[in-house]
Amino acid sequence: MATERPHETTLRFLAEPTDMNFGGKVHGGAVMKWIDQAGYACAVGWSGHYCVTLYVGGIRFHKPILIGNMVEVRARIIYTGRTSMHVAVDVSAGDPRDGHFQETTHCIIIFVAMDDEGKSVEVTPWAPQTEEETALEQYAVRLMELRRTIEDEMQPHRGM
Ligand SMILES: CC(C)(COP(=O)(O)OP(=O)(O)OC[C@H]1O[C@@H](n2cnc3c(N)ncnc32)[C@H](O)[C@@H]1OP(=O)(O)O)[C@@H](O)C(=O)NCCC(=O)NCCS
Repeated sequence: MATERPHETTLRFLAEPTDMNFGGKVHGGAVMKWIDQAGYACAVGWSGHYCVTLYVGGIRFHKPILIGNMVEVRARIIYTGRTSMHVAVDVSAGDPRDGHFQETTHCIIIFVAMDDEGKSVEVTPWAPQTEEETALEQYAVRLMELRRTIEDEMQPHRGM
């Protein structure tokens, strides 16, 4: 019997002094790296292939993360195409002494699965089971439509 592949990955760790920015809090670049790592682990887990990041969108840092905070980075498959996987990533953080977590960042990353020759390869289709998963899939479809408009707007400015 085939084993169901995991569609969700959560990383949990402490924000370290080496993650600090010039203001003494966690560097935005460190958060972006964690988002990419959690998304990558999720996409690889779902597809069973090496994956590349195609797109990262909508990153907004709602709240700062402090050094010493416990950080949780949750990545979930919300939509699949033929070779691409759209992964929603939610970052939350809090003081480990009280265990109270607050959402700090949410974004969508798209990964493409690759074969051993470096060509894009088909992935197992994601089939939402719950109301929340269905709503997230519809959200991914709406974002794709919006993204086309944004990419058309940005196109003339590439490489200027
Ligand atoms: C990712 C990459 C292989 C895609 O190349 P490509 O020529 O567009 O590949 P394909 O035409 O086969 O498309 C692959 C998938 O990407 C999707 N895609 C392509 N452009 C897209 C866009 N702008 N937005 C969303 N999805 C897109 C396609 O729809 C396809 O998905 P599907 O099979 O589920 O429909 C290529 O752009 C690449 O190598 N980029 C660099 C990746 C990288 O190095 N990432 C690390 C960060 S720098």
